[in-house]
Amino acid sequence: MAALATVNDPEIRRPITELGMVKNVDISPDGVVRVGVLLTVAGCPLKDTITRDVTGAVSRIDGVSRVHVDMDVMSPEQRKELQTKLRGDRGPEKEIPFAKPGSLTRVFAVASGKGGVGKSSVTVNLAAAMASQGLKVGVVDADIYGHSVPRMLGVSERPTKVEDMIMPPVAHDIKVISVGMFKPEGNTPVVWRGPMLDRALYQFLTDVYWGDLDVLLMDLPPGTGDIAISVAQRMPTAEILVVTTPQQAAAEVAERAGSIAAQTHQQIAGVIENMAWLPCPHCDERISVFGEGGGQTVADALTRTLGARVPLLGQVPIDMRLREGGDEGKPLVLTDPDAPAAAELRRIAADLGKKSTSLKGLKLDISPVKH
Ligand SMILES: Nc1ncnc2c1ncn2[C@@H]1O[C@H](COP(=O)(O)OP(=O)(O)OP(=O)(O)O)[C@@H](O)[C@H]1O
Ligand SMILES: [Mg+2]
Repeated sequence: MAALATVNDPEIRRPITELGMVKNVDISPDGVVRVGVLLTVAGCPLKDTITRDVTGAVSRIDGVSRVHVDMDVMSPEQRKELQTKLRGDRGPEKEIPFAKPGSLTRVFAVASGKGGVGKSSVTVNLAAAMASQGLKVGVVDADIYGHSVPRMLGVSERPTKVEDMIMPPVAHDIKVISVGMFKPEGNTPVVWRGPMLDRALYQFLTDVYWGDLDVLLMDLPPGTGDIAISVAQRMPTAEILVVTTPQQAAAEVAERAGSIAAQTHQQIAGVIENMAWLPCPHCDERISVFGEGGGQTVADALTRTLGARVPLLGQVPIDMRLREGGDEGKPLVLTDPDAPAAAELRRIAADLGKKSTSLKGLKLDISPVKH
């Protein structure tokens, strides 16, 4: 059992012994071990991983000559038990774990005014960098119509369900959920009005089993539409990360997107200037494709509007490899961490990840009693 306790369920990422997934262990005198493993659902796509990990863990024990792994499926009662173990018996009322007082997960909503400035690219690269720095990271693709995160992280599998919990697929050590994973095959569009967008977001936050996360990144659609408002209402503690290009026209729109924080009482973690310049392929010169200064302009303007310092967190240059990495599902910060764009994104990730939530100033879920 101690050896099996070293094996994690690849989706839930907790030891299989804790999850009630070990059905039986039979050891014969000649050292042949049979382990019965209970999967959460039949046809669990991670069967092979579990078989390999169990075989590896058990064969390392002295005296074991061979390991057989037999797969079986949990009964509805066992699944129910697992759900209660993971989430507690919370009754019919759903709640968003990250919005609860005392939640230690930092939530960043990546926003912009204009489309196509690199929100999704920044989101996946920050997530990958933070995960590689040892943080437990989740990403919500909150861009319901224009979802692009699964491709950028190379996730093609569908989430599995345990009772009414959705297990988010894991890529590059990041838990990911997107409406793109729930659509029928093919590139069909999502045709929903505002209230449905809010429902989808709410489900991503309540029905998905995220476990204990250090950081949750939400990739928003551009602008100040329905989803941005939903995020503000559902997750008032989410800090906004504003992405803009250096272009002054883009900066004005980004400032507008950021200043909704003044109305929604959210905090702004800072501004990231993306596509800041193109390094000349022949010399050291920086080509200002989209002009200059947009990031600083937005940071300064938001500082004035909100009356609190909004920092320019960094400037990410244009790099063709960053785009290619997005197309291939391999974030640049992992494939080429020393490329200037990757190094800047890793630095920003380290800065953001460092400021972990402390309990100071958090509302405690208690009320004083007079004696
Ligand atoms: N620093 C960069 N260098 C090179 N290409 C980049 C960079 N940042 C983003 N891109 C590319 O620009 C395009 C737009 O980026 P991305 O999809 O991340 O923007 P977005 O703000 O999420 O867009 P949308 O508003 O449509 O959601 C993509 O093709 C992406 O690969
Ligand atoms: Mg996007």
